[in-house]
Formats: sequence, C-alpha cells, structure tokens
Amino acid sequence: MVTILVGGQWGDEGKGKIIDLLSEKADMVIRSQGGNNAGHTVVNAGQEFRFHLIPSGILYPTTTCVIGNGVVLDPRVLLEEMQQVQSRGISIDRLVISDRAHLIMPWHPILDKLEEEQRGDDRLGTTWRGIGPAYADKIRRIGFRAGDLLKPRFLEKKLTFVLGKIKNPILEELYHVAPLDRQAILNEYTEYGERLRPYIKDIFPIVQDALARDGRVLLEGAQGSMLDLDFGTYPYVTSSSPTAGGALTGSGIPPSAVDLTIGVFKAYTTRVGYGPMPTELADTLGEQIRKIGAEYGTTTGRPRRVGWFDAVVARYSVALNGIRSIALTKLDVLDGFDPIRICTGYLSKGVLQTYPMSNISHLKHCEPVYEELPGWGASIACIRRPDAGRPRRVNDASGRTPGQPPLDTRAGRRRSAATWSCDSGTHFSRSTKARGD
Ligand code: IMO
Ligand code: MG
Repeated sequence: MVTILVGGQWGDEGKGKIIDLLSEKADMVIRSQGGNNAGHTVVNAGQEFRFHLIPSGILYPTTTCVIGNGVVLDPRVLLEEMQQVQSRGISIDRLVISDRAHLIMPWHPILDKLEEEQRGDDRLGTTWRGIGPAYADKIRRIGFRAGDLLKPRFLEKKLTFVLGKIKNPILEELYHVAPLDRQAILNEYTEYGERLRPYIKDIFPIVQDALARDGRVLLEGAQGSMLDLDFGTYPYVTSSSPTAGGALTGSGIPPSAVDLTIGVFKAYTTRVGYGPMPTELADTLGEQIRKIGAEYGTTTGRPRRVGWFDAVVARYSVALNGIRSIALTKLDVLDGFDPIRICTGYLSKGVLQTYPMSNISHLKHCEPVYEELPGWGASIACIRRPDAGRPRRVNDASGRTPGQPPLDTRAGRRRSAATWSCDSGTHFSRSTKARGD
C-alpha cells in the first residue's frame, strides 16, 4: 500500500500532524523532496521534537525512515536532528539516506541570500537555506551527492573544480565577497561523511523490497502544490516538485504502485514569502486569523500571509495530484468568525476562471468570487463526528477529477482513535503543530 501525502496550498497546511498520525501505521516513510526549508514540530509522549529533514516516523520503533534521492540535504542540519533524537534515547538505526540525495554545500545559503538581495523589490522571499541554488546545481550537473561524502578523493577533486572554477569566482567577482576555503570544506564534509556513513545507502533495493512485500509505504511531501516549480506561482515557488509526481521521482516509486494520494488543506489559506495570493486578507480580519492560528513561519519567524479558503486552488491541487482524500486542518481557528467565505472562482479581465491562471500577473490582479457561509459561533474543539456542513462544502467546492469517487474529507479515519485528543474526522487537534516556513 503506497500513500502519497501532499500539501494542497502554499505549504504549512499542517502536513506534519497528518504524517505523524499515518507514520504510526507505516512500515516505511520516505521524504521525497525539499530540504530544511520545511519541517514540523511533533510532541510525542510529552517531548517536543523539531524535524526539518528526518521523517517524524523515526519516533515509531518499527518504521524505516528514508531520506529520498529528491531531497536536498544539509548535512549539518541532519546531524543536529539525529543528535536531537538520539539524545532522547530514541534509536536512529532505521534511518536511511539515499546516496543520490544532493547536498547543500556552504556556498548555497550564501548564494541564496546574495541572489535575493540582487533581486531587490522582486525578491522571492526564500528561506535562505540554499534550496534553490542546490537544486540549480543538481540540474547543472555540478551538484554534490550524499554518496560523494564517502569518497574523500572524489570529493576533493570535485571541490577543486566546482569551488575553484565556478563558485569562488562568482562569490569574488560577481558579488565581491570573500571566497570559501576548499580545505576547510573538505575537512568538514569528510567528517560529515564519516558520521553519516552507516546511513548512506542506495535506497533502490530497499524501496523495491518494501514494495515487493506489499509494505505500507508513506511518501511524505513537504511544501505545497502552489509552490511547485512547474505548476505553482512561478517564480514565487520553491525549487522542487511538491506534487504527487515529485514524490515519485524523488523516491523511485513507480506511478502504478500508488494506492492513494491524500491532500492536506488548511481551512483558510496562508502563504510565506512573496507572490500572488488571490484571497489574501490584508486587514484586521487577516490579522485576527493570523493571531488565533499562530501563523508565523517558525523557521524564519516571518508572519504568514492569511486569507480565506481558496477552492480554486483546492480544485487545482485535487486534479493535479489525483487527490482522493482531504485532511482539513485548523478548522477550529475559524470558530466565531461569521460569515465564513470560500473563494469559488476568480474574475479576471471580465472572465470567470475556475483554475489558477499560469500568468501570475493575471492571478495577482484577479478578483476572487466568494461564497458566504454562516459561521458556527461556538468552539468545535470537541466535535465527535464529522459535521455535514462546512467540510462538505469544502469537499464539493474542491471538485474531483472525472471518473473519481467523491473526495473523502475524513482522511483521519485511518487513525487510531487513541491518537486523537478530539475524535472528529474533519478537525485535527493533536498536539503537533506545523513548523518550517
Ligand atoms: P512546509 O513543508 C511554507 C516558501 C518560502 C518562499 C518560497 C521559496 O513547512 O510546508 P525556498 O527557500 O524553498 O527557495 O523558498 O517557498 N516555502 C515554504 N512556505 N512552507 C514550507 O514548507 C515552505 N518551504 C518553502 O517561504 O516563499
Ligand atoms: Mg512550513
């Protein structure tokens, strides 16, 4: 059974919570794209864990946790996370790192920041974690892979070329900043290699074996579909493919093996960084939601932009990823708001659009068409069964791809009831909170 979990909006949908719940029942969890631009906090047995790279499945004793080939890996951040887990007495023996995963090298965060500064008012609002530059180098075929860490002579040769001939000249001549020291980087990364050696493997046979045994494999997505390099609001996107397709190329799992794609959506919309967001509320209402929903990126601390639920985006995500099941989070943040609005279309140049336009200028200037629903005026924190009202409207408005059965907004029904502080199929209130940007 292969399940893909994707973020349906601009990231921060509360994927961590759902992943954590599903991980308990998974034999293998694979992180397939992104890097430490993402992450989440898990509170497990009263202890708080912060993960940016390691799948939170590591907290469960029998789950194999794989960092897939599609991830860009900052070894320093990974080692810190490994230390965090080990220091609480939890074994990391089940961690596997793909030798094909690309590495964040010291110049990547530096260039991320310098390139953003260079863009001035047109900057993207990246996390400065070096994600874009690392993926760019992968595509340019000058990237370093985790497997390279195990070959110091190869690493040295490659560093001599990439740093000496490409990166340092860029740093010095284009940006007028100090060059990086090749020997210091070689020493640092060779040491990382020694520490990570037991975990770095070719994941192909490991993943194939899990599939052959019909193991329960969960593909853990980071970011969200609207941040997708191809289908998001380019260039205001991340540099990977946080869609179901990206999950497959980032792990080596064939499309035919997939049983279910779950989309995680927040009951309203948030976005960090720049770029169009048609339902944004740049007023006190937005501020209120931000405050109640604690919408601040915990990696960078930036306030998240907040807006109403955008069913145009949801419909697009459902179709793009083949989502069959929606996990709707943070519905309780809307307790007391009345009316509640759902955007069902965009009016652009006098034409009603039902999918986000690829032209981001049109997206920026379109007028959202809203449907108003009455609020519920009370706390829903202890609702025991799915309410037929609001979530159903989200379901209907999000649409489905032709030939598919209706969406199931109760993704959580696969959970064990004990893991929920509130046994509701549509409202997730476990003590995990979104983290990352
Ligand atoms: P999770 O997994 C929200 C956003 C950044 C920026 C853009 C590009 O927690 O949902 P990057 O550093 O990736 O080059 O930045 O993407 N971004 C996220 N926003 N949640 C995330 O991850 C994000 N990861 C990247 O804010 O706008
Ligand atoms: Mg985030």
